[in-house]
Amino acid sequence: MGQSIQMNELTLGVCYYPEHWPEELWEDDFRRMREMNITVIRLAEFAWAMMEREEGVFDFSFFNRVMDLAHQYGLKVILGTPTATPPAWLTHKYPEVLNAKIDGTPIKHGMRRHYNYSSPKYRELCERITREMVSAYKDHPSIIGWQLDNEFNCEKNVFYAEADHAAFRVWLKEKYGTLDELNKAWGTVFWSQTYTDWEQLHLSQTESPNPHLALDEKRFISDNVISFAKLQADIIRELAPQHWVTTNGLFGHLNNHEMTDQLLDFFSYDSYPQFSTVFYNGNEDKPMLDRQWSINLTNVRSISPNFCVMEQQSGPGGWYDRIEMGTPRPGQIRLWSYQSVLHGTDLLVYFRWRTATFGTEIYWHGINDYHNQPNRRVREVAQVGSEFAKIGTLIAGTTYQAEIAYLQDYDNNWDAEMDVMHGPLQWQSMRSWFKQLHYRHIPIDSLFLRNDTRLEELTKYKIIVYPHAAIMTDDTAALLTQYVEQGGKLFFGARTGYKDKRGQCYMRPFPGPVAELCGINVEDFTLVKGLVKAAALSWEERLPGGTATVGFNEVISVLNPEAQVVARYSSEYYKGEPALTRRSVGDGQVWYYGSAYSEPVVDAIIDELRLSSLIDAPAEVEFGIRASKDASASYAFLLNYSEQPATVQVKQSAKDLLTGAMIDGTVELPGYGVTILELL
Ligand code: GLA
Repeated sequence: MGQSIQMNELTLGVCYYPEHWPEELWEDDFRRMREMNITVIRLAEFAWAMMEREEGVFDFSFFNRVMDLAHQYGLKVILGTPTATPPAWLTHKYPEVLNAKIDGTPIKHGMRRHYNYSSPKYRELCERITREMVSAYKDHPSIIGWQLDNEFNCEKNVFYAEADHAAFRVWLKEKYGTLDELNKAWGTVFWSQTYTDWEQLHLSQTESPNPHLALDEKRFISDNVISFAKLQADIIRELAPQHWVTTNGLFGHLNNHEMTDQLLDFFSYDSYPQFSTVFYNGNEDKPMLDRQWSINLTNVRSISPNFCVMEQQSGPGGWYDRIEMGTPRPGQIRLWSYQSVLHGTDLLVYFRWRTATFGTEIYWHGINDYHNQPNRRVREVAQVGSEFAKIGTLIAGTTYQAEIAYLQDYDNNWDAEMDVMHGPLQWQSMRSWFKQLHYRHIPIDSLFLRNDTRLEELTKYKIIVYPHAAIMTDDTAALLTQYVEQGGKLFFGARTGYKDKRGQCYMRPFPGPVAELCGINVEDFTLVKGLVKAAALSWEERLPGGTATVGFNEVISVLNPEAQVVARYSSEYYKGEPALTRRSVGDGQVWYYGSAYSEPVVDAIIDELRLSSLIDAPAEVEFGIRASKDASASYAFLLNYSEQPATVQVKQSAKDLLTGAMIDGTVELPGYGVTILELL
């Protein structure tokens, strides 16, 4: 279980950029924040050029003035180290610190995150600004904690500077020791890729790279970010041990669990649910839209059960040239705030106090508009502030409760990025499971399988879904077998267990290490896409009329008579062959589905397992419970993502936490409404 933020009450904060505003505004800003029950501000994460205007010339007076005033107003401060935005003097003088495009051309100054993690010069300059900054501010009474950099691997998560290739070579030497080992691991005998000198190695700058290299590359990038972040974390720990350390974001090619364990007090996330409207392609039935952010938040709480949302959307987003979004409808800012709280946020920091009047994010709206007059977003945040004041001490420290876990791991997620016979299945199954469970009001956790994952972490869950672990070791299979023997219900899907850690295919029948556990083999298989038609699935009891399969079809042969065939294909040349099997093992069950999970199939499985919810409500309502460790206090959250009102039946006696009124079994939620119940 990861480390959590320790808050005594739900706390509101806001990202504040005093460097964007005339100093005369600060005092009024701070006064109004306090009126809204905002008690924390985040400062300085992009302000390197203000603190070190020229190389080696430091001036920390600006933020000192800001923090002195903030302190007078009783505001606490989170400081960001400014290393996401190296100044122009720096990149001009030391171009080797820049990241490069895939063809090696350096990325020029002018955006942000234009640096690479590997350059020794950049590491040195980052250590120096961090050391100077922490030394200058560490004794300021307003400071509570530090954010490292800003959003590691946002914008770019691939690196092609000379320094990156060099660092990759060092990493590979450490991992493999000899070129022989490396050549074996990457199968370089294929296409004469054999390396005979370490200098011949580089990060993948080709369209279809060696897949084993591509997998190692992601592991390298993750390790490289962590070692870069460690330089700063160590300095803060040394100079300011009284403050906490975190970082924000959830981006590719970074093992956030590992980073948090090694370096942080807790993880932080930036939640912008309105991105869903930017990405929506219009093709989905009942899309999750902004509610999809609950999946992200579920992943975040698998890192830190209680965490900080360092940036919570508080207005329409937009850069001057892209990311067009509609404005949050009345009620949605509050709804998204409680979406974060339901999933474990105890410190909620809005992005941003006021919309910038200049710069790339000129349309990224904050709580206040350019005109700085009262508006509905200010009123909505003030409402959240007054509610936090009322219920915040009860909720803080309680955590999300679920009996089902969706299991993932970084190796498979990274392998899935390129692998067309595995990756698309993962996304399909993940969405189906989350969506169907969400729409039927059954809480689900995320769990990341790691080298040191213990059986007790699995047995907390009655059901675990691990649908497409292409990479699977015998050790993992042994752990999962124990889970099932001890009473767990485990679900696999197509393409399980055919690769080893290197990403090479095993010479053994699928599903490799778990074939025996499932009591089956995969006898034949096909990708289904385009002209290759998906077979229909027949499961008379649960899916009368059948349903189409998606993504992949594996024809299963049953080896162990204990494995029962639950559903069969009903078209294609493999018509009548097994598609879904179930085997009872010890006190548990293992299921194997030779396809990717679709919504109807998950729905049918939920029926078959007789899973039920504490509430009856329209699908648009999200339900979840935060409870104290000893379960003496339980709070149920009802979040209505629809503009239409919703009626919810609650099957347990409960009290409305905000109004104190007893519930007579029914809750009426207005459009975008939120109700929090104390379960009695
Ligand atoms: C990210 C960044 C912020 C800001 C917002 C809005 O989350 O951390 O600095 O850019 O997005 O674009």
